[in-house]
Amino acid sequence: MVDMIPVNLPLVGDEEIKAVAEVLKSRVLTGRVQSGPWVKKFEEGFAEFVEAKYGFAVCSGTAALHLALMAAGVEAGDEVVVPSFSFIATAEVVALAGARPVFVDINSETFNVDPEKIEKALTKRTKAIIPVDLYGLPADLKPIREIADKHGLVIIEDAAQAHGAAYMGKPAGSFADLACWSFYASKNMTTGEGGMITTNSEEYASKIPYIRAHGEREEYFSSMLGHNYRMPEVEGAIGCVQLGKLPRFLAVRRRNALRLGERLRVAERLQLPFEPKGYVHSWYLFTVRLKDASVDERDGVVEKLRQKGVGATVYYRTPIHLMPYYKRFGVYHLPVAEVASRQVFSLPVHPGVSLEQVDFIADAVIELLG
Ligand SMILES: Cc1ncc(COP(=O)(O)O)c(C=O)c1O
Repeated sequence: MVDMIPVNLPLVGDEEIKAVAEVLKSRVLTGRVQSGPWVKKFEEGFAEFVEAKYGFAVCSGTAALHLALMAAGVEAGDEVVVPSFSFIATAEVVALAGARPVFVDINSETFNVDPEKIEKALTKRTKAIIPVDLYGLPADLKPIREIADKHGLVIIEDAAQAHGAAYMGKPAGSFADLACWSFYASKNMTTGEGGMITTNSEEYASKIPYIRAHGEREEYFSSMLGHNYRMPEVEGAIGCVQLGKLPRFLAVRRRNALRLGERLRVAERLQLPFEPKGYVHSWYLFTVRLKDASVDERDGVVEKLRQKGVGATVYYRTPIHLMPYYKRFGVYHLPVAEVASRQVFSLPVHPGVSLEQVDFIADAVIELLG
């Protein structure tokens, strides 16, 4: 069997092990409404990194999104506009909040939600929009901000893949009311599982710590609906170390992505990822489209790459509106998302990939596609 270059890989080392041991020795393993010392340090450091006033760590990116919807007051009877071409959590949390996800189509070049289609999807019941920074490229937030302001809607940015990305000179998340991040093992930085909400809003900041901890404004006395979405101290400690490494991780991702993009320019069948003017890509995933391909042809290319040791992977092969559970929210025809799901695949550019491996990946793709 050939060794596979995986599409993503958590890079953790002695520093993380040391920090975890320190937490365990301290016996302060978690917080209550207020975070413990490590999580607090991580929240402050991450909020500073994305230039937000407040950061609230939680136990996953999914928890961050659900908590953000709760803080925004989204409930049964409300509608939330989401792109159908995303990881399931983007829509799942809307259903968990008791609301209805309304699916919209994407832009064929960026794979991100198409702002024009958002406006057409609004009804009197629309409460929020969840743009996703897919693959690490920020969604086009300026027109989305204008739509939200015009109609009094909340923007919850799904920035789970966008640590280090920027839009119009500001870090991803800056144009949203609430931005939600993931530190799942595959992400640009990890805490194993974990997430964060960042915001500049004092109003949200005054609610989030309580919703995160059972709605207890006083001990054992819940005044609002909450959950247990706390981040444990061990994860906070890993987060502090990973945050320190993040600039280097991002620089290597960028180096790899630029080299791979340069090398693959000769492969005319591929639509390559790019950074539109005014955007900084975080290069969480280097996702190409095999132009005019059927599912079978795309899957055949992915399979052959995997046989050669290139961990090509498809994100996402089924748009959410076509998933069994989500069909109850309506019949949708979203052609751009449906075609993209049949033609895209992602190649490894994570910081564990060397330049020699980037060239190996490029050679393998070019040999297959001519
Ligand atoms: C776009 C997107 N949204 C939400 C999530 C959910 O994050 P988590 O896996 O940390 O719950 C992820 C990551 O898995 C994601 O990629």
